[in-house]
Amino acid sequence: MDKKIKWGIIGLGKIANKFAADLLLSKASTLYGVASRDTNKSKDFYEKYKAVRYYNSYEELANEPEIDIIYIATPHSFHFENTMMCLKKNKAVLCEKPIGINSEQVKAVFEEAKSRNLFLMEAIWTRFIPATEKLIELLNNNAIGDVLFIRADFGFKANYDLKNRIYNKDLGGGSLLDIGIYPIYLSLLLLGIPTDIKAMARMTKTKVDGYCSMQFNYMNDAKASLESTIEANTPTTAYIYGSKGQIELHSPFHHTQKITILKNGEKEVLTVKYKGNGYLYEIEEVNKCLLNKATESLKVPPSLSIDLMSVIDRVKKEIGLTYKI
Ligand SMILES: NC(=O)c1ccc[n+]([C@@H]2O[C@H](COP(=O)([O-])OP(=O)(O)OC[C@H]3O[C@@H](n4cnc5c(N)ncnc54)[C@H](OP(=O)(O)O)[C@@H]3O)[C@@H](O)[C@H]2O)c1
Repeated sequence: MDKKIKWGIIGLGKIANKFAADLLLSKASTLYGVASRDTNKSKDFYEKYKAVRYYNSYEELANEPEIDIIYIATPHSFHFENTMMCLKKNKAVLCEKPIGINSEQVKAVFEEAKSRNLFLMEAIWTRFIPATEKLIELLNNNAIGDVLFIRADFGFKANYDLKNRIYNKDLGGGSLLDIGIYPIYLSLLLLGIPTDIKAMARMTKTKVDGYCSMQFNYMNDAKASLESTIEANTPTTAYIYGSKGQIELHSPFHHTQKITILKNGEKEVLTVKYKGNGYLYEIEEVNKCLLNKATESLKVPPSLSIDLMSVIDRVKKEIGLTYKI
């Protein structure tokens, strides 16, 4: 039988549940171990997703010799310490986005992984979904000519609850790090690193950005207009305007299943379905890398995560957003 990759998950919240459900769809994966800060929660999760084992702490899971890779699904502010802890126990890691709270942390985790020859990837799952592959194919085939400007937003109305990470500054709260990262990632994928960044935010009473508006300018004069908010439900669509036509990534654009191309007065609508919750494609990429003994994915390499956080840091500076570290 082909070797299966044995996964461990730490931080058993909302995304861990969705991810675990998709791990069960992956023939190349075994959900080996799960760990929470609370053993009862670990046990419930282990039963729900039929894991092989559960543990009393994150460290105990990271000490498990059977586990090949650990998926970190804790709030942003713990990604650095959790990733470092797992790497120092010589475990490969897939860490939720953002992989650190600033550029120093992001560079440090990748240096640690490199020094140990370990696989490490930020969970930019949207890169692997079929619609993103289709979008890249369309642009490579010059479907809309040169990209002139893009517009993308991501907004949802979150409950004001400081037990939840979204408004809580100590847990890395605010829209930029949580969801602004998606339109920024799209801009990076399509246009690269901006030369100029302008940004404005509406800060919450907890001193995180409730709304963030960003304007990026590029060397070739292309532009990106991006927004994120945790204070209102916004369309969450992306439009890519080119010299010969335009593409709409329908809501929710970051894991869309519908793409519309408008060109020469004609409209083409493509349906691009994904399985499960959409995380399977990222999971299979990681499995493939580990089976091939690769220490990075070519689609979401360390340089991408470093560039992404360098852009986010520039936006943070523009809007006066800081986090304690
Ligand atoms: N890829 C995606 O689509 C996606 C979607 C949503 C979120 N995310 C990312 O995934 C991460 C987790 O998001 P989530 O929505 O799953 O959050 P969540 O529901 O709040 O879960 C986070 C988990 O982290 C653990 N944790 C450790 N220390 C904690 C602390 N001091 N306070 C609260 N929780 C703590 C808890 O697990 P235990 O109690 O089990 O220890 C908690 O259940 C975030 O960084 C977010 O950016 C990604």
